Amino acid sequence: MATELIVKSTKLMLVRGDITQQKVEAIVNAANSGLMGGGGVDGAIHRVGGSAIVEECRRIVSQIGRLAAGKAVITTGGNLPAKYVIHTVGPVWRGGGNSEGETLASCYTESLKIASDKGLTSIAFPAISTGVYGYPQDQAAKIAIDAAIGYLKDNSTSLIAVHFVVYDGNAYKIYANELDKVAA
Ligand code: APR
Repeated sequence: MATELIVKSTKLMLVRGDITQQKVEAIVNAANSGLMGGGGVDGAIHRVGGSAIVEECRRIVSQIGRLAAGKAVITTGGNLPAKYVIHTVGPVWRGGGNSEGETLASCYTESLKIASDKGLTSIAFPAISTGVYGYPQDQAAKIAIDAAIGYLKDNSTSLIAVHFVVYDGNAYKIYANELDKVAA
């Protein structure tokens, strides 16, 4: 079962755990367009990170308006172990015929771009859109891994570690299965 993959000089790694506890430079939030918090990953990040995150989100929304699906912005990590949070808005699953795949891939590439532009060395992603937004987990895992590999192949980056953090054993198996396919 593959849990790691090296692309150029960046290591992709599958991790089982809580995204809020990851000791990386930036964690990614599965946010919504209003950026004011919610449930799932979003709720956990705001709870642990504290009010500095929502204050910065409020400033961002007042400057650029609501964040469209597939886009990403960066804020402080507040009280989190991670220094930064990259907030991205995944697509709501509507059956797959509404460019959900492209939008989801964009969440990953936009987040990797922001991290690279800032010279960060490590980032951790949750399984964006696979909770409240209903994206089928196996399809979402394939998109996440393919988007990250594509970005790393096509761009030079400061990132040496890209982690996919999943909460439960079933999601872990799904990601490991996808990593097996690309490693084969
Ligand atoms: N760490 C890692 N993974 C987690 C955690 C956690 N602490 N909490 C939940 N997950 C997993 C879920 O099991 C799911 O597979 O993250 C995945 C994404 O789930 P959601 O957080 O529901 O994200 P999403 O489907 O993108 O929905 C976003 O939910 O909370 C609201 O404000 C948010 O409206 C937005 C929507």
